[in-house]
Amino acid sequence: KSPRMEKTSDFPELKNDTFLRAARGEEVEHVPVWCMRQAGRYLPEFRESRAGKDFFETCRSPEACCELTLQPLRRFPFDASIIFSDILVVPQALGMDVQMSPGKGPVFPEPLKEPDDLQRLRPKVDVDAELGYVFKAITLTRHKLEGKVPLIGFTGAPWTLMSYMIEGGGSTTHSKAKRWLYRHPEASHKLLRQLTDVIVEYLLGQVKAGAQALQVFESHTGCLGPAEFKEFSLPYLRDIARRVKDKLKDSGLDNVPMIVFAKDGHYGLEELSQSHYEVVGLDWTVDPRSARERTGGRVSLQGNMDPCALYATKERISEIVKTMVEGFGTRGYIANLGHGVYPDMDPESVGAFVEAVHTHSRQLLNRN
Ligand code: CP3
Repeated sequence: KSPRMEKTSDFPELKNDTFLRAARGEEVEHVPVWCMRQAGRYLPEFRESRAGKDFFETCRSPEACCELTLQPLRRFPFDASIIFSDILVVPQALGMDVQMSPGKGPVFPEPLKEPDDLQRLRPKVDVDAELGYVFKAITLTRHKLEGKVPLIGFTGAPWTLMSYMIEGGGSTTHSKAKRWLYRHPEASHKLLRQLTDVIVEYLLGQVKAGAQALQVFESHTGCLGPAEFKEFSLPYLRDIARRVKDKLKDSGLDNVPMIVFAKDGHYGLEELSQSHYEVVGLDWTVDPRSARERTGGRVSLQGNMDPCALYATKERISEIVKTMVEGFGTRGYIANLGHGVYPDMDPESVGAFVEAVHTHSRQLLNRN
């Protein structure tokens, strides 16, 4: 019943390991670059593939996920790929109904309202049965990538998923979910633990299926203060990395680099850099040099150009990238945007971003 574990030797040999080396803080010939939401609606071929199809239907088709993952790599020399999927497949695995409403975003018709609603969640989730389609997509994509670049798997973090499950969709204040933190702290921790258990198995399954790195998206850190972050987000982020790494070891599998991206969580940078992740992802509100100082060489850093800088001219993008790469330095650095590419952005600008990272980092490395 459980999917066969893929052996590394079954996959095509990796030709470009720059991203993995940077994640481990090793020497590189250029700074690796990829973009969050690199497979997305800014690409006409993506819009064509997705046209008229339900979003989660697409997520459940390994062939469609593979094709969408590969699309950006046919255009641009990205140094990593990220499997096409969504963070909200985990609440679905717990038994919740989630729809993607075009133009509106995710909608939960029956969100969690009170602690009693936790009884509606599956007490024990068979991750292979509920999320095996993601594992299949990863294995297929590893083969179809032909070793071009590494494949990143991902998950939403417990607090971010909890907030969606209670808000029932996007929110500016997250006040319904935060109400639970202040009014129902014990039920909140119960839900966060339940999510953590599923996430650990989910990430482990992704590695067994062929994921070569893992990113954990804590997208809703910005609405928490430092104290709430320390109580309701950080312990679970740590637990996830610790348990995934222990379980990989116990299964005789190689460690994979893990990236934590706590968007707008600048106040937690010191703690995040001591949480068992090899890489800390940054949004654009953090200055590269101060991020280096605050993380003290303990981790590699990823990020963090403002996605809106892609609205600038090609020349201006190049200047902004140069300053960013100089700020982070070329060692232990993975270039990315500070959040995803927006649908109205010009693919040419994404290409200019990638090219600028490669050019400026090669120049800096040759000078040393
Ligand atoms: O290229 C990649 O980065 C990989 C694919 C990916 C998607 N979602 C595809 C997607 C990843 C990594 C995600 C993660 C995700 N999903 C996050 C965390 C990252 C972040 O943005 O902070 C979150 C919060 C979600 C939830 C989600 N999914 C929202 C809010 C939306 C609606 C966005 C909108 O503009 O309508 C989605 C839908 C979604 N997930 C799209 C894509 C490409 C766009 C919808 C479509 O393709 O029809």
